[in-house]
Amino acid sequence: MKNIAILCSGGDVSGMNAALKRFVEYSFAKGLTPYFVDHGYEGLIDNKIYQAGYSDVAGIISRGGTKIHTSRSKRFMEKAYRKQAIDNLKSHNIEYLIVLGGDGSFKGMQKLSDESEGIGFSGIPSTIDNDIAGTSYCLGVDTALNVIKFSIDSIRDTASSFSRAFVIEVMGRRCGYLALVTALTSGAEMCLVPEIPYELDNYKKCFKKQIDDGREYFIAVVSEALNNSEEIVQWFEKEIGIESRVMVLGHIQRGGNPTVHDRHMAFNFVTYAIDGLLEGKTSSVVCFSDCGFNYKHIDDVAFKKAVLDNDLLKLGMEYGKNK
Ligand code: F6P
Repeated sequence: MKNIAILCSGGDVSGMNAALKRFVEYSFAKGLTPYFVDHGYEGLIDNKIYQAGYSDVAGIISRGGTKIHTSRSKRFMEKAYRKQAIDNLKSHNIEYLIVLGGDGSFKGMQKLSDESEGIGFSGIPSTIDNDIAGTSYCLGVDTALNVIKFSIDSIRDTASSFSRAFVIEVMGRRCGYLALVTALTSGAEMCLVPEIPYELDNYKKCFKKQIDDGREYFIAVVSEALNNSEEIVQWFEKEIGIESRVMVLGHIQRGGNPTVHDRHMAFNFVTYAIDGLLEGKTSSVVCFSDCGFNYKHIDDVAFKKAVLDNDLLKLGMEYGKNK
């Protein structure tokens, strides 16, 4: 039997545990022996590698986070530590490694696959930021969107009760995907993301008119990348004349009970990863597009910049226009 391992790297996402469950079950179904690497690349360096069984994945499907832990490894940037990681994989006779992670993790995987012989690698895009080149969907995004949507809906209740403006800061690193999708689908009055230039003056005219027409509160969703939540709160107070609060959603966005969509996507991503490795598609990333799942070479994913979908951008551009 060939040995196959899996690790989680970078920010955890809801759906990773569903992926681990599928990994163990599908590995056995394919005649492979599954291994877990605890704590991502850090664990790979420290040889925290162990054989996994059905009991390890029992009851985890409904839990966010990752049972095998994750890490952001600075040591992995150094070749000597990567050599240690490869030696550790070889000491367990591991022939395949699946990496769940975001762009930083894929940069690490690319280096590892360049430097190791005889080990096949497959990446599964897993980040709430949805900012991986080559794939329109990353594991965990749907759950994060729903957590944010739920939070905005709740904030709207208190915003309307107090006649306040709320500036809600949303994660996404340098990408505005989470902010834009949740602003649109929650009916937010303002959305500021790094991909779309904005003029606060345009909002001013529009908001003043809305107040004259009877509006009593505002919801603004802003991307963490802009780092301007406090500034926007001040703007609401001074320019619009409404009491305002800032709400940084923070790490709550990364957790929670995974949605049906993320559990389902986890199963598909892992199935494609294992099938691809067995077919010789190594150094690849399982990607998703309107046409379904596909494989991309790691060189076409790591170090490439993801761009927002045109339709989403078009909808986002309508923010700040006089209505
Ligand atoms: O990449 C996922 C992410 O949650 C980003 O949205 C956020 O900027 C970052 O990780 C936070 O990182 P950390 O958990 O290390 O504070």
